[in-house]
Amino acid sequence: MRAPSTNGLDVNGRRILLILGGGIAAYKCLDLIRRLRERGAKVRAVMTAAAQQFITPLAVGAISGDRVFTELFDREDEHDVGHIRLSREADLIVVAPATASLLAKMAGGHADDLATAVLLATDKPVLVAPAMNPRMWLHPATQRNVATLRGDGIRFIGPNTGEMAESGEAGPGRMAEPLEIVAAIEELLREAKNDRPLAGRHVLVTSGPTHEPIDPVRYIANRSSGKQGHAIARAAAELGARVTLVSGPVSIADPPNVDVVHVETAQEMLAAVEAALPADIGVFAAAVADWRVASASGQKIKKEKGAAPPSLALVENPDILKTIATRGPMRPALVIGFAAETENVVEAAKKKRKAKGCDWIVANDVSEKGGAMGGDRNAVHLITAQGTESWPVMDKTEVARRLMERAAQHLRQTQVTV
Ligand code: CTP
Repeated sequence: MRAPSTNGLDVNGRRILLILGGGIAAYKCLDLIRRLRERGAKVRAVMTAAAQQFITPLAVGAISGDRVFTELFDREDEHDVGHIRLSREADLIVVAPATASLLAKMAGGHADDLATAVLLATDKPVLVAPAMNPRMWLHPATQRNVATLRGDGIRFIGPNTGEMAESGEAGPGRMAEPLEIVAAIEELLREAKNDRPLAGRHVLVTSGPTHEPIDPVRYIANRSSGKQGHAIARAAAELGARVTLVSGPVSIADPPNVDVVHVETAQEMLAAVEAALPADIGVFAAAVADWRVASASGQKIKKEKGAAPPSLALVENPDILKTIATRGPMRPALVIGFAAETENVVEAAKKKRKAKGCDWIVANDVSEKGGAMGGDRNAVHLITAQGTESWPVMDKTEVARRLMERAAQHLRQTQVTV
């Protein structure tokens, strides 16, 4: 067989998490690790208990130049490098050799050891290199599991057809050769790069209203649902970004694969935003209360018979968007604000873009019939230094996706990384 050509560029500097299953082909993975490292990849290995029957963690660690992970419940590791972090700190996961049993566990969503827990917890591309006896590969149960995994977006390389380790047996079941696996990894990384244009970026999003306390039971609030901000956080994560969402009190669920910081007040929101910096992109979609009660009462304010209603002295809240957009160091490369307007939408938003010091403003036409406030649809204009684009009425999820795709494109053109 002719060795596939690999240019090495796509794996250079990338982090590969290799999960070794229990099969005789595990010995070939030592060569796979070497080939990947030659091309500049960082390789981390997880071994199942069965894999350790074939090759030792010592050998794998010596070749990978990193420690080898074997235990799901390791006192030290679970606090330090647990299954979630192993997945997070990888660009791609390779399962090789993938035994029939490992494929069955993956297809069934089992998570009873470190290898399967990582695979269930990951949102990274997964490449599987099966290796098993031909009868096991051709068994309807295995074929069913393979079809399920393909449907889940798992990619396969091999198995090849040929002589098996057991004498006299031949057929499909040989693990793909190390260089074939490297070529498949490169292809998958190339695809993932196109699908995930925000990979390696940190996106910070504010969302929802703030609640400003009057006393322990009452507060000043607004009708923001958080739908738009949450949709932006979700879209950024889907495009590959690490996302921090600072959310005021909302009744919608946290988006998946996003670090969510829940806050109540504008001051707490500002503190959480500052703590989350640096970021490549800051999106300020929260409807922050402009004012708070100067000194909230520590006790519930009681109605006294015959007394006049209490008057509330208000003070201005910090402007989170302006604070972040006008600071020198730690200013995100791209700062995006929102403007809710009912008239002269574009003119008002243009002024707001300058006044707040942000790069882009998403002008939200809250007078539109669709009912942007609390509704699912939104009619927006995107205002940048170059001009104004008016987008048709669309779902907030589509606004989010389009905005984050534009942001990714902008960063690519300006080539800034934190
Ligand atoms: N913003 C903020 N902190 C505040 C107030 C607003 O970060 N204390 C941000 C919002 O998240 C949004 C933009 O600033 O991105 C909106 O600015 P704002 O001046 O509040 O505009 P509107 O909500 O449109 O209200 P108004 O027209 O009354 O100024």
